[in-house]
Amino acid sequence: VSLLPTTRCEAVEGRTIRVDLADTDWDNLGFGLVPTDYMYVMKCTQNGTFTEGKLQPYGPVELSPSSGVLNYGQGLFEGLKAYRKEDGSILLFRPEENALRMKSGAERMCMPSPTVEQFVDAVKLTVLANKHWVPPVGKGSLYIRPLLIGSGPILGLAPAPEYTFLIFVSPVGNYFKEGLAPINLIVETDFHRATPGGTGGVKTIGNYASVLKAQAIAKAKGYSDVLYLDSVHKKYVEEVSSCNIFIVKGNVISTPELLGTILPGITRKSIIQVARNQGYQVDERLVSVDDLLDADEVFCTGTAVVLSPVGSITYHGKRVEYGHRGVGVVSQKLYCALTDLQKGITEDNMGWTMEL
Ligand code: COI
Repeated sequence: VSLLPTTRCEAVEGRTIRVDLADTDWDNLGFGLVPTDYMYVMKCTQNGTFTEGKLQPYGPVELSPSSGVLNYGQGLFEGLKAYRKEDGSILLFRPEENALRMKSGAERMCMPSPTVEQFVDAVKLTVLANKHWVPPVGKGSLYIRPLLIGSGPILGLAPAPEYTFLIFVSPVGNYFKEGLAPINLIVETDFHRATPGGTGGVKTIGNYASVLKAQAIAKAKGYSDVLYLDSVHKKYVEEVSSCNIFIVKGNVISTPELLGTILPGITRKSIIQVARNQGYQVDERLVSVDDLLDADEVFCTGTAVVLSPVGSITYHGKRVEYGHRGVGVVSQKLYCALTDLQKGITEDNMGWTMEL
């Protein structure tokens, strides 16, 4: 039985709108934007308090040409997902963690932030208003993109006088074009993503603009993405453009420790816990390129990528392959454990999921 009618009318905040889902190809969702019906917008002026958030039709936002975000990159984003359960209900995964990460990012970027409660309530409201865009079971998820931007006008370099918190959503499938097949990474030796004392540890928009060049060069050569090294010693692995990285050697799983240059991924944190629950030793430590090339398995984690096995790494022209072009046993086990939890297939003893 399909949970999704092709066309239906919905009353949201007293207005009736026509939601047309007929053209959505649920079997071929990638990670491209599918515009949905509603976005959430909440403003904050100089006293640092966010008030009067509301849903409005998804569409362009009006922004001053001199806004802090457009001129000085004062902005953060988040990413989380909603999954549909077999019974038709919708599950969010650890939304409070995103709220807390946005708070610490806002602190670093001199911005006020919504409270955890405001953040989570806004996410729930936005997902429910767009609930028909949550893909059917097994077809993907609804990606939720909260933004916090300096929307007020400013000319001299200073924090903006006004901020906007906005959430939009889009149904998504797999992030990489490889789908769930192993990806091929190249270790970047010319460009760096972050530097000590910089903003690598927060989800500011500029961190993502700055990796586009290296990513474009790598993609033109046929790689799936780029793995960055630390900018001081140029030998410790940090993260991939859009996700964290793990290596497996025997029964030990290691991932680069968070020293301020690496994004504290919520999927990273969850996988560490899930792996420990399954009896693996998980070390957060400095992981050198040598450790990486010597690993039995390598995988990436992130909200968008979920858990993506790595099939090969190329470093200074040398290519090392993992898992005989298939998915490694540990990667497969952890992928299933995490996604079964996120989709409500296994019981959530961790209190990580929130049912809507
Ligand atoms: C996410 O995984 O949610 C991210 O923020 C990565 C983004 C570049 C798609």
